[in-house]
Amino acid sequence: MLIYIIVGSVREGRTAIKVANWVQQATTELALKDIQTEVVDLKEWDLPLFAGSHPPATGIYDQPKQQQWADKIAQAQAFIFISPEYNHGYSPALKNALDYVGKEWQGKPAAFIGYGSTNGSRSISQIRQVASSLGLVDPNAVIEIRDIFKRNKDDNFEANEFEVKGLAALISKLQKYHIA
Ligand SMILES: Cc1cc2nc3c(=O)[nH]c(=O)nc-3n(C[C@H](O)[C@H](O)[C@H](O)COP(=O)(O)O)c2cc1C
Repeated sequence: MLIYIIVGSVREGRTAIKVANWVQQATTELALKDIQTEVVDLKEWDLPLFAGSHPPATGIYDQPKQQQWADKIAQAQAFIFISPEYNHGYSPALKNALDYVGKEWQGKPAAFIGYGSTNGSRSISQIRQVASSLGLVDPNAVIEIRDIFKRNKDDNFEANEFEVKGLAALISKLQKYHIA
């Protein structure tokens, strides 16, 4: 099972890339059979703001990079969204990336790792609502990271024991809900 870790912030000085790198490294350390991960960075993808002439659910993709993004998403079997909280919601980069394509998300389990000056819970609530409307499967696989400001001072994100345990549970839920 290939799991994409989708980096939901494109901001200068973002924490999202550090959290994504921790998720990838800690998942590799779990040494689970049949699990591969890839960090997919929305900053590198640099998708223009969606302005297509058809709703992506139609499968008509006429925007620059839209088919490329569809082909990329089609290759994964599950997703972990790294979802910062901005003004009690999730990031515009994630909303744009979700809106870009349709059927490529469908029937695949999605997990959410949120954070903010509190714990990212409002970001996670909102993105789950949108993800389920796209047909992503929700196995209730969530991690809420507290006090992100204090924890964004080093080059690497240092997870605590609850987050490490939470990640193992999250991956196990993705496996359970994955339909081969
Ligand atoms: C535009 C903006 C709005 C924010 N609003 C919230 C908020 O509503 N609640 C919260 O807990 N943190 C909020 N924060 C703090 C962010 O969650 C924190 O800066 C986090 O590191 C952002 O993720 P990123 O560094 O990966 O971009 C906000 C930050 C920004 C830049």
